[in-house]
Amino acid sequence: MDRDAYHRPVMVREVIGQLVRREGIYVDGTLGGGGHSLAILQALQEKGFEQNSLLVGIDQDRHAIEEAEKKLEQFRDKTRLVPGNFREVAAIVGAIRDREAGAMPVAGILLDLGVSSFQVDTPERGFSYTRSGPLDMRMEAGKGFTASDIVNNCEERALAGILFRFGEEQKSRRIARAIVAWRSEKGDITDTRNLAAIVKSIVKDPARQTRSLARVFQALRIAVNDELGALEEVLQDGAEMLAPLGRMAVISYHSLEDRMVKRFFTKIATDDWGPKGVGLRKPLQKAEFRVVTGKPEEASDNEIKENPRARSAKLRVIEKKEQSGE
Ligand SMILES: C[S@@+](CC[C@H](N)C(=O)[O-])C[C@H]1O[C@@H](n2cnc3c(N)ncnc32)[C@H](O)[C@@H]1O
Repeated sequence: MDRDAYHRPVMVREVIGQLVRREGIYVDGTLGGGGHSLAILQALQEKGFEQNSLLVGIDQDRHAIEEAEKKLEQFRDKTRLVPGNFREVAAIVGAIRDREAGAMPVAGILLDLGVSSFQVDTPERGFSYTRSGPLDMRMEAGKGFTASDIVNNCEERALAGILFRFGEEQKSRRIARAIVAWRSEKGDITDTRNLAAIVKSIVKDPARQTRSLARVFQALRIAVNDELGALEEVLQDGAEMLAPLGRMAVISYHSLEDRMVKRFFTKIATDDWGPKGVGLRKPLQKAEFRVVTGKPEEASDNEIKENPRARSAKLRVIEKKEQSGE
């Protein structure tokens, strides 16, 4: 497999510029094929930070861990790869620090959200509406319920709720009704193609069809993997574990995620002035963080031309202040 065949990392230059600024532990919570991790390790080496640094790579997909192991072979001593969910980041990094990294500060955390190209391009994983495959969509293979479980067991209202909440799909109710009708006429919906056909039967305009297909598949993927729940936890625990001047960088690909990241960053970077109208002269609590990217950074036109997946990428970065209360 060539260098980026598994997954071509997006906005590598921007991520490295924002993230790699000091020695310490770097956590890549979405290791994937290891493209960003490799760039982080190379940057640490170039800057002379390598000796007192360690990269912790986490992915809930064991196949990604195996792939990244190969890519990061030359940095094996400086790398710890852990299969698991990034919502467990505190326990994962805590165990490594207890075992070997001692007081090494957490200098950076990267989250490159969503699924990898490899996952999408593997029909058996069921992420793609363009290929026939089982309606699975679990990032951690074999664990928990599948998209098929949702599509075949949820009541119409609940189904419409999932499509609307996690996919922001305007025709969620009509699509849910068509799913339920298919179930009672033809039995279980087990193949991605069947689900795609149902969506197409409701959204007929070809231009809208692709967007609706993407939204419906996104909604089910988010529900199956509890993506927003995991994101909420990793943002909170990740921010807490950062050392002073440590940074967290998050790349998101759709508005639900980006909104969550933006709100969370704004909240922890805002001084607490108590209830409105009290008129305090100084805040009850000064914010411990500052937002580095007011507006999110986006991929360059050149990158988008070469890698269309970069088109929707938004990079947001936060930094822990040097001293809390500063
Ligand atoms: C967009 S890809 C990351 C690609 C990676 N930056 C690279 O350079 O190859 C997202 C990866 O994160 C993993 N992932 C998504 N959500 C996760 C979670 N909650 N915990 C652990 N891994 C997760 C997916 O399995 C996938 O491999």
